[in-house]
Order: sequence, then C-alpha cells, then structure tokens
Amino acid sequence: MNLLILGSGGREHALAWKLSQSDKIENLYIAPGNAGTATVGTNIPVESSDFDEIKMWVVEKEIDLVVVGPEIPLVNGIVDFFYGDPILKTVPIIGPDKKAAQLEGSKDFAKQFMHRYNIPTAKYKTFTSQTLNEGYQFLDSLTPPFVLKADGLAGGKGVLIVDNPEDAKAEFKEMLTGSKFGEASQKVIIEEFLDGIELSVFVITDGKNYKILPEAKDYKRIGENDTGKNTGGMGAISPVSFANKEFMLKVQNQIIEPTLAGLQNDGLQYKGFIFFGLMNVNGSPYVIEYNCRLGDPEAEAVIPRIKSDMIDLLEGVVQGNLNEKQLIIDDRYTATVVLVSAGYPEKYETGKAISGLNNLTNCILFYAGVSNDIDENIYKTSGGRVIAVTAYGNTMEEALKTSYENIAQIQFDGKTFRQDIGFDLK
Ligand code: AMP
Ligand code: GLY
Repeated sequence: MNLLILGSGGREHALAWKLSQSDKIENLYIAPGNAGTATVGTNIPVESSDFDEIKMWVVEKEIDLVVVGPEIPLVNGIVDFFYGDPILKTVPIIGPDKKAAQLEGSKDFAKQFMHRYNIPTAKYKTFTSQTLNEGYQFLDSLTPPFVLKADGLAGGKGVLIVDNPEDAKAEFKEMLTGSKFGEASQKVIIEEFLDGIELSVFVITDGKNYKILPEAKDYKRIGENDTGKNTGGMGAISPVSFANKEFMLKVQNQIIEPTLAGLQNDGLQYKGFIFFGLMNVNGSPYVIEYNCRLGDPEAEAVIPRIKSDMIDLLEGVVQGNLNEKQLIIDDRYTATVVLVSAGYPEKYETGKAISGLNNLTNCILFYAGVSNDIDENIYKTSGGRVIAVTAYGNTMEEALKTSYENIAQIQFDGKTFRQDIGFDLK
C-alpha cells in the first residue's frame, strides 16, 4: 500500500521508521517530513495544514492510507475534509473527526465530557470575560497552588500554575481580557491542583475496540529536577515503574473504557490514537488532559516497543476489527533523551553542523529539527528540539546509559540536554 504520514517532528520520524518496516508498504510519503523521515520514505513539500494541497498529493501518489501525526490538522477538521470530499472519502485516514478532536482542542469540552461520564479529573469551573467576578470568587474558594488553563490550543503553553492568590487573579484577568493566549483564552478553566506524578497512556481505537499501547513518562521542563520553562519535551521513559497491573487496571476501568463508551454515546467518530495525560495521586489516576494524537517525545520511546506490524493494527482501525489484531510489546525498557538547541524553549540559533552521527551503536535516532544540506553533504540543526536518541535496555538504567553514551558522540554547537531523564522513577 501507499501510505502518507502528515507532520514533521520526531514523532513522525518514529512513525515513519516503524511503518517503513512493514511488508505491506510499497511507498511511504511524509508531508512535510524532515531529514530523518527522508531516510525511510519520500518527503513531500506540503504543510499538514494545507488540505487542498494534501488532496492533490493523495490523488497523484495514489495514497491508500493517511496517518495524521500532529493535533492542529485534526482540530481543524482534516478528517471531516476527507469524509466530505467525493474523491477522498474512499481514502482511510487515521484520526478523530473535528468534533471528537475537541477533546484536545477545547479543555472546556474535555472537562464537560469527563464530568458527564464520571471520569476522574480535577474539580473545575469555566469562565469568560463576562464572568470575571465569579472567577475571582472561585479562586478565593480554592487553596493554592492555582491552576489556570486557556480553553483552546496554545502549543503546550496554555497552562499556568500560580502560588499566590493575587498573582492568580491578575493572570486570570490577563488571560481573559488581555492578549496573552489570543483566542485560545476566550474561555479560561480554573481547576483544583492535583498533587502527584504524571504519566502518558496511549490507546489505539477503531471507535469500538481498543488496544493499550506502552505507557510512557515525559519530561517537559528544560531544567534538571523538573525546573525551568516548559518545552515540547526533553525525554521519555517506557515502561513507567509505578504503572503496575493494579494501577493500569484502574486506568482501564475508570478512564479508558468510560471514555470510549462516552465517545460512542455522544456519536463522536474516533478512529485513531487517544493520549491520556494522567496524574497518579496516591495510586488513583486522574485525567489532566486528553490529546487526539501520540505524544512527542513519548512516541519515540513507545513506538520502538511495539513489535507487531503497525500497518496491521492501522488496518484494524480502518476496518473496525482491531479486536482481531495482535499487539505484541517488547518487554525491554526504552529511554529517549532529546538534544535541543542552546536557548530553547526561548530564542535559539539554527544552522549548526551536526557531527558524530556515524559513530553510534545500539541506539535509534529520531530527527526533529534537522535539515539535510545536500550541497555540503551535512546535517544541520533547524529547530529547537533537534534529535531524540532512543536506546533499549533490560532496565531503565541500562537504556539510559546507552542513550547517554551515544549522546556523548553527537556534537553540534550549543548541544543541550537533560542529564536526569528518569530521575523520579528510580
Ligand atoms: P496540560 O497542557 O493540560 O497538559 O497541562 C500542562 C501541565 O500542567 C501538565 O503536564 C501538568 O504538569 C500541569 N497541570 C495541569 N493541570 C494540573 C492540575 N490540575 N494539577 C496539577 N498540575 C497540573
Ligand atoms: N509530550 C506531550 C505532548 O506531546 O503533548
């Protein structure tokens, strides 16, 4: 089959790496892809937000299946665009439709959904600029820290956690009446702070049947010991030590199954990946957020642990018989450490030559911000997150050791990474 993956990050390189290994693949295309996806498939120069251009390529390359990596095209309705187009409607696409993608696109929608189906999550209320005073009163009724969330997509930056009530009120007002997050903060959710440890759980579903993929822990902060600014993700570990059978059974019974039943009850069309961002509070799982896609960098740790043919699983999603497919998981640990540009997540420089890529052993590189300068025959940095280095191990420590040994071989001006990925799982 001819397959098209949409997106350009490390997650899409991991998807392309895995899907290219299937015997069922004839041609693999990635739009727009990056220097890494170009090593396992053919990049197509079109942004995943340009639906008309995508249609042209789907027709020209006789695409049989489309996998959507990032959230923006999903939240903007790419699945509805396919279903509603006389030519594209016969081309299966992996991802929820626009309405179902609101689970990620609107935190208020997600909260109402969880409330309706009794899915454990932090207590909350939603406010607009018309209800500022009610918001202040609600803040007064809570104990610090205060959690403020922009309703819409804000590139992972729409959540503020504030210790002091005065600051919380000022931020709350700024979100609703200032330009802090633009349209994303026309509604603001104030919620109870959950004190616990986070993990990411992924499910693949055909809308009815589902399979739980390996879980992962992601490290979002730039600094060691989870300090400093939030980033797109500095590393990931899979499996997660505290996600034992007992805990995962709670996740399945209290969160995954009610979510799928709720989607069906609400008539929401969901064929794709569901990402449950969870908090483990003293052994009880709570949903912090839903995402309608795989996580990045979690995908770079999770996908290498899937042993089964992933095309076979995706065919199950399309055909609605995922229950007949087999998901085989590698028992080993994976550790993913992300190399970023100096200054990230704030201002950083790009165009730095990357060396040492040929000296690596026992690791898999997933490229994010890497470009291939064909004239100079050299790879260069082209983004904040540059390369995810994933290694396997029989223990988390072993996987991390191999990952860090390989990282020592890779050089570029300003190479920055966290030395403590997995620190809270030891
Ligand atoms: P989100 O974009 O909803 O994933 O939130 C970003 C980050 O804020 C999460 O990964 C958590 O670390 C933190 N966070 C969000 N909601 C809460 C909450 N209710 N209690 C504690 N931390 C939270
Ligand atoms: N790693 C978190 C995310 O992909 O949103």
